[in-house]
Amino acid sequence: MLGTLFIGQNHISLASVDSTNTFAKELLTKEHPPEGTIISATTQLKGRGQAGNTWAAEGGKNLTVSYILYPNFLEAAQQFYLNMAISLAVKDCCEEQTGGEFSIKWPNDIYYGDRKVAGILIENTISGSSIASSVVGIGLNANQEEFDENLPNPVALAEISKLDFDLNKLRDSLSTYIEKYYLQLRQKHYNFLDKAYTVSLYRYQQTHEFKKGTAIIKGEINGVTKEGKLILHSQGKEHRFAFKEVEFVI
Ligand code: BTN
Repeated sequence: MLGTLFIGQNHISLASVDSTNTFAKELLTKEHPPEGTIISATTQLKGRGQAGNTWAAEGGKNLTVSYILYPNFLEAAQQFYLNMAISLAVKDCCEEQTGGEFSIKWPNDIYYGDRKVAGILIENTISGSSIASSVVGIGLNANQEEFDENLPNPVALAEISKLDFDLNKLRDSLSTYIEKYYLQLRQKHYNFLDKAYTVSLYRYQQTHEFKKGTAIIKGEINGVTKEGKLILHSQGKEHRFAFKEVEFVI
């Protein structure tokens, strides 16, 4: 039973679609669905990932969902806080479902050890200086056993916990955590979100190698800026990197 106030209460369940994010964005051009509307698909044919990548998920075995939100209380310059809230929600959901410990690989991949279990694609529409609508797409590997060999380090919840997941229950758990953190965001609990996100970061305060172009930088993650840049300490200096400026060496 879904016990949320509004997240996931309006549910558009599709057997097959190109991308739930694309579907949600098209819907928003025609209608104003209630906040928290979830679009889910059993099979996603052309799942989209960050930076123009694709998201492949075996039909009927995983969660491929998009939530429609209207975070118009957020300035466009604060949009990374939405990213923090959603990343924390997906992480908590994975932890509740498996009993394991997960982390957030900056900016918003959900990791178990060195392996990726979920990806997030948030697409905002800006109006003036605030966010008019947001499509929050989440791909969560649940029961898939085999992955494309070109994917560097995928994992599914079932492999972690040796359980078979009921996708309806898993989706309800995800919606519950999305609501919990979205309400924190609405109440402008930015410091809370910032701290929770920072201490959840993959390799937080550990020294590791990062790739910047062809150069290798050895540094320690110390957090993110309000705009979502990664703060790295390296050789006594602080460096700030935008998404795609540096890459983790895993
Ligand atoms: C990434 O890690 O690159 C982000 C992946 C996001 C995938 C989800 S699956 C549901 C939603 N619909 C899409 O087309 N993409 C997101």
